[in-house]
Amino acid sequence: MNKAIVYLEELAKAGDCHFFPVDSDFHESFVIRLKGPLYNGLKFDNTTDDELVAFHKRCTHLGWDLHPADGKNTPHVIGPCPGHLTSFDLSKGGMVVIGQATECLPQVKLKLITIDNRNAIEASGFYLDNSVPYGLVYGQQTDK
Ligand code: FES
Repeated sequence: MNKAIVYLEELAKAGDCHFFPVDSDFHESFVIRLKGPLYNGLKFDNTTDDELVAFHKRCTHLGWDLHPADGKNTPHVIGPCPGHLTSFDLSKGGMVVIGQATECLPQVKLKLITIDNRNAIEASGFYLDNSVPYGLVYGQQTDK
């Protein structure tokens, strides 16, 4: 299911983040603007190196909630998780940096669209390529 999640102007600078509404398959996810290059990053403007990535916010270990602000010292790293201290690298597809989790954070596909002459971001599901160890949303048997 495709879903417009935020206007680009609301992500004005690196580190800005927006949580998706809790009403779809992408609930409890967030999109964040970070300095590129980012794995599967969405380039949205030729005047900046910044890109956008989006992930489910629930830790793949035991499902505690993560928040991008937890990675204060390293902007592209989220964590440590308040549960058992796993950190994930948002520039590398949500890969585990350190900690108890064994799967990446599930990454959401993004697309740039236009709504009423304003740039907006659309989410269209999770990456499910079996050649990459994309994580499952915690508590689910499938991301389909
Ligand atoms: S729930 Fe996040 S590390 Fe255990």
